Amino acid sequence: MPTLYDEVLYPNAPFAQTHPDRLATLAILFGMDPAPIHRCRVLELGCGDGENLIPMAFENPAAQFLGLDAAAVAIRAGKQEIATLGVTNIRLEHMDIMDAGPDIGTFDYVIAHGLYSWVPEPVRDKLLALAKAVLAPHGVAFVSYNALPGGRLRQMFRDMMLFHLGGARELDPRIHGAREIVQWFMACPAGLGESGLLRAQAESIMERHPQVLYHDELGEVYHPVYFQEFLAHAARFGLQFLCEANYHDTQHGMLPAAAVAQVDRVAGGNRIRRDQYFDFLKCRMFRQTLLCHQDIVLPDAPIAERARLLYASSAAKPVSAKPDLSSGVAEEFRGGHGSGVTTAHPFSKAVMQLLSEVWPETLSFSGLLASATQLTAEDANPAGLADILIATYAAGVIELHSEAAHCMARVSQFPVASQLARSQARRGRLITTTRHTTIEAADEKVRLLLGLLDGAHDFAALARQLGSALQMPEADLAKGIQANLALLADMGVLVA
Ligand SMILES: C[S@@+](CC[C@H](N)C(=O)[O-])C[C@H]1O[C@@H](n2cnc3c(N)ncnc32)[C@H](O)[C@@H]1O
Repeated sequence: MPTLYDEVLYPNAPFAQTHPDRLATLAILFGMDPAPIHRCRVLELGCGDGENLIPMAFENPAAQFLGLDAAAVAIRAGKQEIATLGVTNIRLEHMDIMDAGPDIGTFDYVIAHGLYSWVPEPVRDKLLALAKAVLAPHGVAFVSYNALPGGRLRQMFRDMMLFHLGGARELDPRIHGAREIVQWFMACPAGLGESGLLRAQAESIMERHPQVLYHDELGEVYHPVYFQEFLAHAARFGLQFLCEANYHDTQHGMLPAAAVAQVDRVAGGNRIRRDQYFDFLKCRMFRQTLLCHQDIVLPDAPIAERARLLYASSAAKPVSAKPDLSSGVAEEFRGGHGSGVTTAHPFSKAVMQLLSEVWPETLSFSGLLASATQLTAEDANPAGLADILIATYAAGVIELHSEAAHCMARVSQFPVASQLARSQARRGRLITTTRHTTIEAADEKVRLLLGLLDGAHDFAALARQLGSALQMPEADLAKGIQANLALLADMGVLVA
């Protein structure tokens, strides 16, 4: 039977936080022994048209992927994309998860993004029961959900919009009506009060993709839960909390030290109770929780030592042109979204400098240790490096990975873009990077350029081909090509 998701398509996308690499990295840090991602088995529940799963399959040809969704239209679109790309290690099935049993196989990673809070109770139960039944002994499940107390704020807007919409069912009148009342709300300072949170929520609704707003805020089911409540639900099915998929957003550096101390006192060493208090203080709206089997003994925090098994990368760049790595001189390394680190510690500065030079490529722990030791002329200190990596990871300044990145930081003489990016550029604007993020190539020149990056064209040939396709003098294009190649390299689209 067609569902609302068949009538109004949900725009899917790749989500780096659901990637098996993220799940494996965190499992390793918490002492588990997860399957290597290049030959793992992945299940996605509510996979839509497979936009999240297909790039993972493309990048990891020896791994196996299965996606299930109740929307036939989305599954058909996904199958079409799989056929176009010629990927053979992925299957998408039109199936309600209520009909899925353990016979679908065993999986190292199970993903359920944007599903739990939008389905009725029996489906929520089934989601967790199925994850438990099919998860390998050291498997990791990703489940996202609307969290309380912030979910109440979303509920307030949802109630207001649904009240205003009455019986309208089609996309256009629903979106028009929803935005109308939110606009009225925004025009009333008394309603907004002093709360930045209310304004931010109203603004985010106004900016939301219409189809996403239609399903996420205005859908039939809206079931936000407290973190602790969700974990109690998972425990009923034999699953326990591993950690959050975005590890850095469970840190609380932004909160006053006195508030953190009070929470620590009342939480009495219980990390779940502690996180629940922080959700109250931060008015958390959304969680992306990783679960594993209940019989695994987990530490309360990442084991620094385990960082030795990982790879690191960082988009943070030094603020000074030539950072001084000597002792006592503070240097700042600034990343995106306000993240950054200022340190006078020579070894930390060397680590940040080395990572900034190779971004978006990764460095292995041993490679980073050898280079930073050489740069600072200090004695090798693996324990010190592990502590630096965990601290900067928690601060959101560096990324950690379970395997080396597939991209290339340098623009070679005959540049190559990933085969997936080239194929996508020929057909549309949305490009998946090797980091499992999306970029929008709105400019036709960039899309044409991407399509030519097959390793058979050097810079002169690229200018010639683009010039003839766009009917423009090659000399006028040269600067743009250089800048775009550098940008594509920085975003992780170029490969060796
Ligand atoms: C909000 S969308 C999220 C899609 C995607 N995971 C994402 O985050 O972009 C929810 C998806 O779950 C699917 N879905 C809802 N109930 C389902 C069920 N009982 N069995 C299988 N799929 C279901 C819908 O068809 C839809 O594609």
